[in-house]
Amino acid sequence: MEQIIVRRFQPADFSGVIAVEREQFSEHDPYMYMTLYEMNEDTFFVADHRGTVVGFVVGISTIDEYGVCGRVFSIAMREAYQGLGIGTELMKRVVSEFHRKNIGRITLEVRRQNVGGMRFYQRLGFTIARIEDGYYSDGEDAIIMSYMGG
Ligand SMILES: CC(C)(COP(=O)(O)OP(=O)(O)OC[C@H]1O[C@@H](n2cnc3c(N)ncnc32)[C@H](O)[C@@H]1OP(=O)(O)O)[C@@H](O)C(=O)NCCC(=O)NCCS
Repeated sequence: MEQIIVRRFQPADFSGVIAVEREQFSEHDPYMYMTLYEMNEDTFFVADHRGTVVGFVVGISTIDEYGVCGRVFSIAMREAYQGLGIGTELMKRVVSEFHRKNIGRITLEVRRQNVGGMRFYQRLGFTIARIEDGYYSDGEDAIIMSYMGG
């Protein structure tokens, strides 16, 4: 589709991001996105189609047992805009921004039943690190995936 641009999130995009998040997910607290933005504004991107937010990715910098790492907190495209390569572009932007910050290791989690999502991340170079049983509030397991850069 023509004229979709990937750019940094701005506070005016908040309601657009929430609309995409409501369409795609059930369990995030919408207002969390504002807090995530305040702490991670460099790694929060939106896909903009003629002024309307049609997708987003939120990357956060965090610390785990191995040190500083990036985490893809969430990514979603409106259904009508899926399969056009924009999700890939959003991921590439967030990965390269982490690299610019010298963060090479990136992790994320995906629901065990989200096989399409898992394949999407594998194509981008993520590999399965481990499984967390019953990670989600509805009891579904999470597949933890990681990317080592390169
Ligand atoms: C996952 C998601 C962000 C991918 O964005 P997208 O713009 O549709 O992805 P792209 O068009 O860049 O697709 C990249 C590749 O992954 C594949 N792919 C993407 N989503 C897929 C799915 N659900 N099932 C199978 N393959 C999928 C595409 O076929 C494409 O492969 P190709 O390049 O060989 O054609 C989007 O589909 C989405 O919002 N899904 C629902 C929410 C979700 O699952 N988020 C991730 C887990 S938190």
